[in-house]
Amino acid sequence: MTSAKLDWKSDEDLAVGKGATVQAFVAVLGGDKLEIDVAPWGEGHLKVNGREIAHVDAAKDRRQAFRELKRIADRYIEGQPVESERQRKSSMIPAVKAKLLEGKKGLIVGIANENSIAWGCAKAFRALGADLAVTYLNEKAKKYVEPLARELDAPIVMPLDVRVPGQMEAVFAQISKVWGKLDFAVHSIAFSPKDALQGRVVDVSREGFLTTMDVSCWTFIRMAHLAEPLMRRGRTLFTMTYYGSQMVVKNYNIMGVAKAALESAVRYIAAELGPKGIRVHAISPGPLATRAASGIPEFDALLDKAKSKAPARSLVSIDDVGVATAFLAHDAARLITGETLYIDGGYHIMD
Ligand SMILES: NC(=O)c1ccc[n+]([C@@H]2O[C@H](COP(=O)([O-])OP(=O)(O)OC[C@H]3O[C@@H](n4cnc5c(N)ncnc54)[C@H](O)[C@@H]3O)[C@@H](O)[C@H]2O)c1
Repeated sequence: MTSAKLDWKSDEDLAVGKGATVQAFVAVLGGDKLEIDVAPWGEGHLKVNGREIAHVDAAKDRRQAFRELKRIADRYIEGQPVESERQRKSSMIPAVKAKLLEGKKGLIVGIANENSIAWGCAKAFRALGADLAVTYLNEKAKKYVEPLARELDAPIVMPLDVRVPGQMEAVFAQISKVWGKLDFAVHSIAFSPKDALQGRVVDVSREGFLTTMDVSCWTFIRMAHLAEPLMRRGRTLFTMTYYGSQMVVKNYNIMGVAKAALESAVRYIAAELGPKGIRVHAISPGPLATRAASGIPEFDALLDKAKSKAPARSLVSIDDVGVATAFLAHDAARLITGETLYIDGGYHIMD
């Protein structure tokens, strides 16, 4: 088939269900007839010449199901593999009826792709009804982040390389202009130059140390500083840390030092902003196979150890991290602050 664009028309002839709630769309390309039907509860099917090739059942509503199926249809006509329903589900916004964070506005920094912890957080916050501002590192990252930002219906999508002066300020200026407030922010970024990360702590150069601390720790402090004027009682700041801050974890090296400083910064900022009703947390997930993790040698061994040693005998997913983080942003967690919350199947309690 060609890569021509599909022209979807609603199918008036389709016999719809009770209450006329199921909508159907048809597109014809060459000799092929493509059909999509979507129901309001977020279920839908894509058929080509009468044969079903995709099914979604976890979209949050009809519109999202339609967008998903259209995307799959585009891939199909371009001759690309159509992902299985299970694969797709893992990148979709889960359907949640109780919109516990409806009306809340949040900033998510750190989505690189659909494996990112920040993406797990974004999905959970969005599923609970929050509106999200999303950033991407640079032009190269933009093409991976933009489709995800669309899935989130994010009204603010901006570049943010924390090492470029002024970019973080620009993001907060835009949030102030569009929303005039911020309910939560998720800082899910870290970086260490390869020679600093992969060498011994005792050998680290001043430059390697400063870069690691700058990107992985100071930028959270700066984010809190810029967020403070936009935050009132009941607002929450989050950053991502790792157990290697507390214990010597093989190959974690200088990043462990930076995470220890980050967790300490969380406690100080929680104390400083607490009287204003602003809460601050570090989230400490167990190991996850993300782009950042690929810079850590022997990461597979770390995953194996995490799974066998954790009381839950399970690795965590970005969705596990997302829902726990979203809980802490809810008013139900209003008296919890300054925490380092482990989401690791209990790994950190074992010796
Ligand atoms: N993957 C794990 O096993 C694990 C475990 C615990 C904590 N964490 C932490 O979670 C956070 C997110 O990492 P991830 O595992 O989702 O990997 P990821 O690669 O998906 O995310 C890392 C993000 O950092 C961003 N980043 C790096 N340098 C930046 C800069 N100069 N400006 C702006 N953004 C920059 C990248 O663009 C990327 O979006 C990190 O703080 C990481 O240390 C990861």
